[in-house]
Amino acid sequence: MGLVPTMGALHEGHLALVREARRLASFVVVSIFVNPTQFGPNDDFARYPRDLDGDVSKLEAAGASAVFAPSAGAMYGPGEETRVRVGATAAPLCGLFRPGHFEGVATVVAKLFALVGPCVAVFGRKDYQQLAVIRRMAEDLFFPVVVVGHPIVREADGVAMSSRNAYLSPEERGRARVLVEALRAAGRAFEGGERNPAVLQAILRRVLGGEVIEYAEVLRPDLGPFEGAIGDRALLVLACRVGKARLLDNLVVGEEAVP
Ligand code: PAJ
Repeated sequence: MGLVPTMGALHEGHLALVREARRLASFVVVSIFVNPTQFGPNDDFARYPRDLDGDVSKLEAAGASAVFAPSAGAMYGPGEETRVRVGATAAPLCGLFRPGHFEGVATVVAKLFALVGPCVAVFGRKDYQQLAVIRRMAEDLFFPVVVVGHPIVREADGVAMSSRNAYLSPEERGRARVLVEALRAAGRAFEGGERNPAVLQAILRRVLGGEVIEYAEVLRPDLGPFEGAIGDRALLVLACRVGKARLLDNLVVGEEAVP
């Protein structure tokens, strides 16, 4: 049994996870649930795109065996109160900007693991920190689930696919390219031999220019800070606000090809 948790509004990135799960498991459950506990009061829960019928036909074509699309009341029944408390992995980056977000993610993923009982679950590396939090949780809580990370699926111009790209006007969609352009510029500098994290971070910030940066960091792939020079791998990780959309992107240089 394989599981691919999603919040719906599915695109090719989600469908690639489904195909990967289908390769690893004979029966693949895809969950579609816009999880209220991972959204803050100022987040986009109410306007998050929803298209269950469209999603189900895409999933049939991608080879999903079953779709699990519960109501909020089914996932969080009367009197429910238990949450998964996350730790240091969830603290930096998105954890600073979205208090409680990863607690909500870890809680709903724990519920989905318990309900579906998968032996493998596939998550995207686009949400790099989320993947790290879920790996940590599965290990710490002894879930008998192999957590698999899938590479980022991109549009033709390099922009990472995201359900939230639907919030962008055509002009904003053009501006959204700065995220991948920043990763490209810093990635090329790394490939040219640059190993100073501060220099790579300065390149990220320079290319992001006037966009609203939440963070633009150069970290160890385990999310820790570098003390001194980069070794053979580094995580370049970005969160920016473009119009109404909060966009994420990342690249592990020394491991992944520069997009
Ligand atoms: P959602 O944003 O719908 O993403 C579902 C899964 O698809 C996540 O594992 C995410 O990393 C992956 N994904 C999204 N865009 C991708 C892309 N361009 N390339 C590769 N993978 C991509 O992430 C969530 O939902 C929720 O937090 C969830 C884990 C379902 C818990 O509610």
